[in-house]
Amino acid sequence: MRFRSLGRLVFAALMACATPSIAQAPQASGATPPISREAAGARADALIARMTLEEKAGQISQQFVFGNAAPFETKVRDGSVGSLLFLRDPVVINRLQRVAVEESRLGIPLLFGFDVVHGLRTIFPVPLAMAATWDPELVEQSQAVAAREARASGIHWTFAPMLDLTRDPRWGRIVEGPGEDPWLASVLAAAQVRGFQGEAVGTPGRVIAGPKHFIGYGASEGGRDYDSAYVSDVQLHNLYVPPFAAAIEAGAGNVMSAYMELNDLPAVANRPLLDDLLRGELGFEGFVVSDANAVRSLLPQGLVATAADAAIRSLEAGNDMEMSLGNGAYGQLAAAVREGRLDEQTLDQSVRRVLIAKIQMGLFEQPYVDAGQTEAILSDPEHRRLARTAAGRSLVLLENRGSLLPLDRTAYGRVAVIGPMADSAIDTLGPWSFGEKLDETVTLYQGVRAELGGLATVETAPGVQPRRGTRSMFAAFRAPPAAWSADETVQQFDRALDLARTSDLIVLAIGEDFYMSGEQASRASLALAGEQQRLIDAVTDLGKPVVLVLINGRPLDIRRAITQVPAILEAWHPGTEGGAAVADVLFGDVNPGGRLPITWPKDVGQIPIYYSHNATKDPTGAASRYWDLDSAPLYPFGYGLSYTTFAYSELTVDRATIAPGQSIVVSVVVTNTGDRAGDDTAQLYIRQRTGSSTRPVRELKGFQRVALAVGESRKLTFTLGEKELRYWSAGARDWIVDPAAFDVWVGSDSTAQLATQFETIRPQ
Ligand code: NOJ
Repeated sequence: MRFRSLGRLVFAALMACATPSIAQAPQASGATPPISREAAGARADALIARMTLEEKAGQISQQFVFGNAAPFETKVRDGSVGSLLFLRDPVVINRLQRVAVEESRLGIPLLFGFDVVHGLRTIFPVPLAMAATWDPELVEQSQAVAAREARASGIHWTFAPMLDLTRDPRWGRIVEGPGEDPWLASVLAAAQVRGFQGEAVGTPGRVIAGPKHFIGYGASEGGRDYDSAYVSDVQLHNLYVPPFAAAIEAGAGNVMSAYMELNDLPAVANRPLLDDLLRGELGFEGFVVSDANAVRSLLPQGLVATAADAAIRSLEAGNDMEMSLGNGAYGQLAAAVREGRLDEQTLDQSVRRVLIAKIQMGLFEQPYVDAGQTEAILSDPEHRRLARTAAGRSLVLLENRGSLLPLDRTAYGRVAVIGPMADSAIDTLGPWSFGEKLDETVTLYQGVRAELGGLATVETAPGVQPRRGTRSMFAAFRAPPAAWSADETVQQFDRALDLARTSDLIVLAIGEDFYMSGEQASRASLALAGEQQRLIDAVTDLGKPVVLVLINGRPLDIRRAITQVPAILEAWHPGTEGGAAVADVLFGDVNPGGRLPITWPKDVGQIPIYYSHNATKDPTGAASRYWDLDSAPLYPFGYGLSYTTFAYSELTVDRATIAPGQSIVVSVVVTNTGDRAGDDTAQLYIRQRTGSSTRPVRELKGFQRVALAVGESRKLTFTLGEKELRYWSAGARDWIVDPAAFDVWVGSDSTAQLATQFETIRPQ
């Protein structure tokens, strides 16, 4: 219970601080209460009636600002831009805003967007790691902190949460998303929207949430970034849509369309997706923004021949705003209306959606941010405390043979923390970190040293320098360290080995650096990059106790390491407090309770691999589908060890059959059977045995992370009703609850064995 209640306390304290500071600072943006969509719409219409065609096109044009913002003042003044992204200096933001409000013809304020993906100054674990917490309350609190820091910096809107499910760890962007499962992803999607945005667009101290990328980006062929995705109706509805549906239900004010083409139609110009599905089926009322330069990308993608056509096709498909790096295609929309190629009402409709967002955010009343408050909010120690709690709860213990962990603080006089990720602040944070202060980041080496205080000598050495083959997109923001020379490479390896040789315990920090995952960071292999395996070989040959800490953004091929190292902890990119949180777990202050949000393949050749596959004609041979490797994963979805053990019993349903409109309650008792307090995540899976279509062998339909004292038992209940049982059926070509027999399992991961059954029946 300790960590959960700690999180609650921190959050309550935070929110208590947030309110008075906003009340005392009327200049702080967001002080007005949310305005209804209808009222905002009427105000937007009045403005639209006064706008020129150029001003309308400008209102739905968004541009990146890198470096010097002064040249943008002209565009702001003449109304040819309505939104800017990538600024986070409140003084610069206020300066540009003043030009918009006081010097542009209509005084319409700018909307400032930013990729606040897992924190701004306080960096939380990467989203895949946050998914491993299986803790929606914590996820909400963390994104509320991110929103608080963003809003205090003058940012109004985040391009997050990233909700692209994927079953392909080669895809670099797996690190930014919720993993493979639609149920887990949906719960966390709603939590993130609530965290970023609060109750509604315009909640004080919060920002507009922009779930992305609509839709199917995680299905890019071969895991290659931006490649085409071919997704069936069944996969679209049952897999990719649910997290977006949950985010929209939670009130997300914006959605970002995707780069790639879905079934031969690029997402930004895909009317069936943006109009029929997003607005029609899902009822989304906010505004849609393109991904960066995605409108102009319709040219190389081969959909259109001119930028004007790209703009018209995107707008008509329902993509309201264009994000561009400069020279945006939407600038040509005014001429398109004049030439009779675009209906002005289509333009007005998108302008209206954007203006409504600005009105609801209260920007017309409070366009500026109180720059005097920013630093105090960004450096709020409560944010750091929550980041440490979050990182601790995201760690997944993969191996612990012989119970090497938790480590005894007094048992080792000399400790070596070795590896390329051991003392690297940026790799501790992971991709999509921009506003942090690197010297505030706690690396693993620093965390272990602090944990051991004066009890041991702690030293560090990187040993090897894995580097990606091609230049990273993020290298433009942050130059990677210079490559070691051949001599240095030898010296560094020897130094690390000497250190290991003279130590009593080695903590090896291996994985992927900041540049190896994220956008444009796909891989053809999951092997440990560079000479990392050679380092593991050499260190483990010494015969000393070794703990392996993985710092990475995707499952890696660690089959050899497993045979060499008894204890392996998946730490992901754990954020600002990452090293401290890992040390908390290594030394037993925190009992690890994270669970994998993805199936971990043994080999890249098994991809795609996921737990909720369908059965075949030969279900018993499911683990032996290849003749050169078994087809079972290395670790199943939902997996994670603890320093204690748990047992499940008394699984029951409160009725054997359910008719339409009814639901059943599933109960189970979980007991901590070990000798330490700890968390387990009870996971409920169902299988529909027959139906109008075949169904997966298992599907997650509920989970609860619970903290249990030694010997404590807790009865948990889950409700299964239409929401859990319906699916989009290829046979019925519609959403349906089939009359069928169902199996239910509850346990610690997707291989849970404790089972019961029930049936759904047709109405009489
Ligand atoms: C491209 C990425 O695909 C998207 O996720 C991001 O929000 C934008 N660039 C803006 O940085």
